[in-house]
Amino acid sequence: MSTPIPLYLVDQTDLAKDHVDSQTWAQATGFKAAPNTVCLVPGAEGTVAKVLVGKPNPVDTWTLGYLAKTLPAQTYALADDWPAETATKLWLGWRLGSYSFNQYKRQASPPVAELVPPAGADAAYVETTVAATTLVRDLVTTPAGDMGPEQLEAAAQALCDRHAANLTVIAGDDLLAQNYPLIHAVGRAYTQAPRLLDLVWGHPDAPRVTLVGKGICFDTGGLDIKPAAGMKLMKKDMGGAANVLGLAEMIMGLQLPVRLRVLVPAVENSIASNAIHPLDVVPSRRGLTVEVGNTDAEGRLVLADALWEAVCEEPTPQLVVDFATLTGAARIALGTELPACFSNQPTVANALLASGLAVDDPLWQLPLHQPYRAMIESSVADLSNISNSAYGGSITAALFLQEFTRPDIPWVHIDLMAWNLRTLPGRPEGGEAMGMRAVFELIRQTLG
Ligand code: BES
Ligand code: ZN
Ligand code: ZN
Repeated sequence: MSTPIPLYLVDQTDLAKDHVDSQTWAQATGFKAAPNTVCLVPGAEGTVAKVLVGKPNPVDTWTLGYLAKTLPAQTYALADDWPAETATKLWLGWRLGSYSFNQYKRQASPPVAELVPPAGADAAYVETTVAATTLVRDLVTTPAGDMGPEQLEAAAQALCDRHAANLTVIAGDDLLAQNYPLIHAVGRAYTQAPRLLDLVWGHPDAPRVTLVGKGICFDTGGLDIKPAAGMKLMKKDMGGAANVLGLAEMIMGLQLPVRLRVLVPAVENSIASNAIHPLDVVPSRRGLTVEVGNTDAEGRLVLADALWEAVCEEPTPQLVVDFATLTGAARIALGTELPACFSNQPTVANALLASGLAVDDPLWQLPLHQPYRAMIESSVADLSNISNSAYGGSITAALFLQEFTRPDIPWVHIDLMAWNLRTLPGRPEGGEAMGMRAVFELIRQTLG
């Protein structure tokens, strides 16, 4: 390997003070050290002598995120020393920005620029987080025709095999026999049988964390069919499942001292003559009956049965976290890049928000506003899966889920997009992990 090209993070002051020899070139090429700009400085023999990169304040995970795909495909090394935490972030962002999804292309993606692991960086954290994020992105971006409940199960099985975890699967009519009526009802119209994936890992006596992920492998809307524009991206409706599998990869890969359980209802919300109808009433695992006001509000149905199983386990978990691409309303409220989070315990919510900020994976809290609980009442059943109001849809969805949790068990609900609509540094367009690193940090700090 040839000597790595030195890479300097510079602001205007650094440029003037430390790179006097490059000033003329910088001026000639219009480089002003602005964030997200770069300047390749030639050496005497016409090679790249060094790279100047605009330094934002603060330096964060995304500072170098655009370089892997924009710099010439050579090897670079940070010229300056950074505190360990920053070195880890810089390397992680670089690596996350080198991702591309090319499984379906004849031509492999072009080679990317490499960064020499910076001194002090946490290599295990970076490698594991890259693997986990890659898993999430691949699972979400893979077309629904190749990522049905069967393939999602296979992905969970492969994950278990890598980490000596145990996977139990309840599928098809066994869901009825074992009292998961809502998961069965939503998924029964698809050719691949609906199923509940149940992963267990770690020492039984360690603090218990249970993750639940919405695994709607495709959301047609059901008989309340989505219009074409709204349906187009619905291969990503298993983004919650992908994120909890990615988070499991992090927890197991970095061997957090917890006992982990992951529950994924994996189904397609499909259309056939045996599909649930609008206004059908379906029992739930908890025993409450649910009136299906809209077959497109299917995520909360499958999550209800999985959450109730999560909170009924003995001994009880110390933390239950669900990830779900649950509502368009959350995206209206916060946009697509900022997941909404809810919690029945303010201290947990605050810790999660802080963790998210610390690892550049922010979330925004919305309230479990109890007065809106009346909006999900039904005149014929115990609950309705839709609100009788056109407003606050992400809150009423969360309140529906809360009916299937317990006040004494800390619970976090994350309503996320799981998809980058635009490319940002370190985050190419396509399936994305959102909230995964934040929740990992929460678990590491409070239970690990
Ligand atoms: N998977 C969708 C929610 C969604 C849509 C998330 C677009 C992200 C982007 C969910 O199953 C759904 O269809 N929700 C409905 C609920 C409504 C029928 C009460 C929604 O949000 O419109
Ligand atoms: Zn839906
Ligand atoms: Zn959905």
